[in-house]
Amino acid sequence: MRAQVAIIGAGPAGMFLAHLLREAGIDAVVLELRSREYVVARVRAGVLEQSTVDLMRRLGIGERVGREGMVHAGTTLAVDGDSFHVDFAELANGAAITVYGQSEVMKDLNQAADERHIHVIYEASDVRPHGLDTDTPWVTWNSPHGARRLECDFVAGCDGFHGVSRGCIPHGALTVFERAYPFGWLGVLAEVPPCNHELVYANHERGFALASMRSPTRSRCYLQCSLQDRIEDWSDDAFWDEFALRIGGSFASRITRGPTFEKSIAPLRSFVCAPMRWGRLFLAGDAAHIVPPTGAKGLNLAVADVVVLANALGRLYATGSCEGVDGYSDRALARVWKAERFSWWLTNLTHRFPHMDGFDRQMQLAELAYLRSSRAARSAFAENYVGLPLEV
Ligand code: FAD
Ligand code: PHB
Repeated sequence: MRAQVAIIGAGPAGMFLAHLLREAGIDAVVLELRSREYVVARVRAGVLEQSTVDLMRRLGIGERVGREGMVHAGTTLAVDGDSFHVDFAELANGAAITVYGQSEVMKDLNQAADERHIHVIYEASDVRPHGLDTDTPWVTWNSPHGARRLECDFVAGCDGFHGVSRGCIPHGALTVFERAYPFGWLGVLAEVPPCNHELVYANHERGFALASMRSPTRSRCYLQCSLQDRIEDWSDDAFWDEFALRIGGSFASRITRGPTFEKSIAPLRSFVCAPMRWGRLFLAGDAAHIVPPTGAKGLNLAVADVVVLANALGRLYATGSCEGVDGYSDRALARVWKAERFSWWLTNLTHRFPHMDGFDRQMQLAELAYLRSSRAARSAFAENYVGLPLEV
């Protein structure tokens, strides 16, 4: 087989890139380790930046997000039972975020891919890129029907944090920046109305909690937990008791309890590898960087990367200019680092760290009090939360 671009991974980065390349008239094949059902069912992100929704519209896959996505013009920060509102409409030039699950985004991307005959190969095991430092790279994999080979001009490594692509870059050519946090997030879904019409981020002495949602009748809730915790340790009663305590105030009294499902524990990590290109390989999304979910940036960053990459490849194929592809890593990383900073900052502001002393706690409380009282501080929060401009 032959394609101009081989895309490894059919998550958000890989599938958005496939659509963007199709729009630019560039021929691509997507190779995915898992089944389509598995990729679509994964419950992960919930918050889309305006630029992500705008891109879905431009690509002709924005109809359902426009109808079913919940537009939020603000969010609430809660501190030990007290709370204040950050109004994006007022502070971020009318920008908003849209709450729409990653699995819904994946359904929309996949359905449009079928209609457009975008070639996605699922259950491709042992995917391996080769010849990345030559002008004629290729990718091999195993399908249920035997060994396969795809010749291409470029390889896009969109295969997430645990993928194969990043490992193809020689150690000496890559710098890794990393921070692992000493806690995780326990996330649950429940078929109950959310306790507030917008998201609530709560800093509590006992740890962080987040009230989010997937629809007016479905809640998505998170609790900071120990990395030693197991899902079985958290009964529904234990979850809702702790959630009500941490969310506090009037929100606690509006919690509807119900059976929880899709329970998972995710470790929190900040991670960046640089550069995001080596030879004919480009990394995009979680393959190149991870943010703790606190800032709701991961999926949006993956989308921003592939917008830059698709523009660069479009220019190369249309004009022969290498300027875009040569600048891809620097351009993508400039935005990545800003989102890393925001996600790290919000994690530090809202979570309980194991060795925190009284001084550390007072610093958190003072910073939250400053946010509450200062329009300038709230504007900075709002500007980052709704998403910094795409610089392509
Ligand atoms: P992935 O989604 O990881 O996709 C990579 C794909 O590559 C997968 O389908 C995988 O199966 C495939 N793959 C892996 N290895 C191979 C291989 N060897 N060969 C072939 N294919 C392979 N982000 C937000 O923007 N907003 C949020 O609100 C938010 N909330 C989150 C909440 C939680 C609990 C978690 C865990 C994450 C959250 N994120 C959020 C982050 C977001 O889900 C990720 O950043 C996003 O999925 C990254 O997309 P990606 O395509 O780069 O990687
Ligand atoms: C979610 O709804 O899953 C969600 C929302 C906000 C975050 C992280 C996750 O910061």
